[in-house]
Amino acid sequence: MIRNYLPGAFLASVVAASVFGGSRMSAQRPLALSPLRTAMFVVDSPTLYTEAQAEEGAKVWTATCSSCHETKDVTSTDFRTKWIGRSLFELYEQIRTTMPDDAPGTLTPEQYLHSVSYILKLNGLPAGTTPLVSDSTTMSTLKFELPAPPPPLPVLP
Ligand code: HEC
Repeated sequence: MIRNYLPGAFLASVVAASVFGGSRMSAQRPLALSPLRTAMFVVDSPTLYTEAQAEEGAKVWTATCSSCHETKDVTSTDFRTKWIGRSLFELYEQIRTTMPDDAPGTLTPEQYLHSVSYILKLNGLPAGTTPLVSDSTTMSTLKFELPAPPPPLPVLP
């Protein structure tokens, strides 16, 4: 009975992760969800961006990006899969040099940085006390990754 219960619970979590992984719900309520559901996409740093930066980024998103984008464009499994293994600097540079699509490069460096912060927040990555800075060396070392695999299930007698 117990032997069957554990793998069953694990499977249910994985299914929940794939159902909710790309939705706005996981983005807006990261604390309410289990790590398995949110950690489809992680960056190995405890302090990536500040809440204030993400709030500024949300304003940029609403004023500029949302005329063409839905948030799922930057939170979907497709988006995450595409960016895994690539750095924060690549994402920043891509947005800075190509967005808004109809007027690339027209925002300030801070607005681009804040947009990236907001995208991190939408993906459920936690805000910290250290702001994200547009330093290519630091940002290049920060890579999007898949989360560490869950620990193996205990061997039952
Ligand atoms: C005028 C329309 C338009 C606006 C405004 C716009 N985008 Fe885009 N964006 C696009 C299009 C079209 C693409 C796909 C382009 C491509 O793949 O070459 C895209 C692609 C992207 C991507 C790449 C997605 C991926 O799958 O890797 C990101 C990230 C992005 N935009 C972010 C932003 C941000 C942030 C803003 C606001 C600062 C913004 N965009 C504003 C039209 C727009």
